[in-house]
Amino acid sequence: MRIAVLTGAGISAESGVPTFRDDKNGLWARFDPYELSSTQGWNDHPERVWAWYLWRHHLVQRVDPNDGHRAVAEWERIPGIVDVSVITQNVDNLHERAGSSAVHHLHGSLFEFRCDICDSAYHGELPDMPEPQLEANPPVCPCGGLIRPDIVWFGEPLPDGPWDASVEAVRATDLLVVVGTSSIVYPAAGLPELALAQGTVVVEVNPEPTPLSADATVTLRESASTALPTLLQQLPSLLGKKS
Ligand code: APR
Repeated sequence: MRIAVLTGAGISAESGVPTFRDDKNGLWARFDPYELSSTQGWNDHPERVWAWYLWRHHLVQRVDPNDGHRAVAEWERIPGIVDVSVITQNVDNLHERAGSSAVHHLHGSLFEFRCDICDSAYHGELPDMPEPQLEANPPVCPCGGLIRPDIVWFGEPLPDGPWDASVEAVRATDLLVVVGTSSIVYPAAGLPELALAQGTVVVEVNPEPTPLSADATVTLRESASTALPTLLQQLPSLLGKKS
């Protein structure tokens, strides 16, 4: 059996990583996430955008994967499951740290950095940021460009490699589990539609309804850490109820 898992910020929420659209408190609530995750925002206020990502980079290093991440990683060890492809919109590394071996980052990573002019990868020292700061100066590349996070901002194309691998994984999978995403940002939100169109079982795990809920084969109004550890055992009865 092949499983593909499409995850969003919700699967990392229980690890203490704020989601995008739920984070109504905290330092960054006063800014529109689109301002902080767009090329325009970077061009207008690179020091604000840099502070936002540097803080999240350090935040993720200080938190741990939760039972949701660990359940997905555990699926790789179940006899009969030949492939578990994790397709994530998240830029944290919690799936990898939980033990998942095939993780496709559609929106990049908080742990990769590059120059915004010459594109060279940056491996230099990063200043610590124990507390959130509103502004911080990004490092400067020898070419004069500014170092930015290697993250896909609104208006930027997704990286070909992870996208192609994700489409391939969805096409080949027997089951698509969609966890912790509001399912409103395309093209990622198009992957469950692709699965449904080819007759693949789609299970949504989200405490809140989303645009996918009405079409999903099964939708569980539960948190990731509650639903995922027992999801595979429950699947036959969940699907039995639907037929
Ligand atoms: N378990 C499962 N789902 C949860 C949990 C939880 N414990 N807590 C919250 N959620 C759900 C919320 O109900 C919401 O539907 O996670 C979803 C988080 O939605 P968003 O904050 O919109 O995050 P995401 O769907 O990943 O955003 C997609 O948009 O902001 C851009 O590029 C950014 O990758 C991001 C993309």
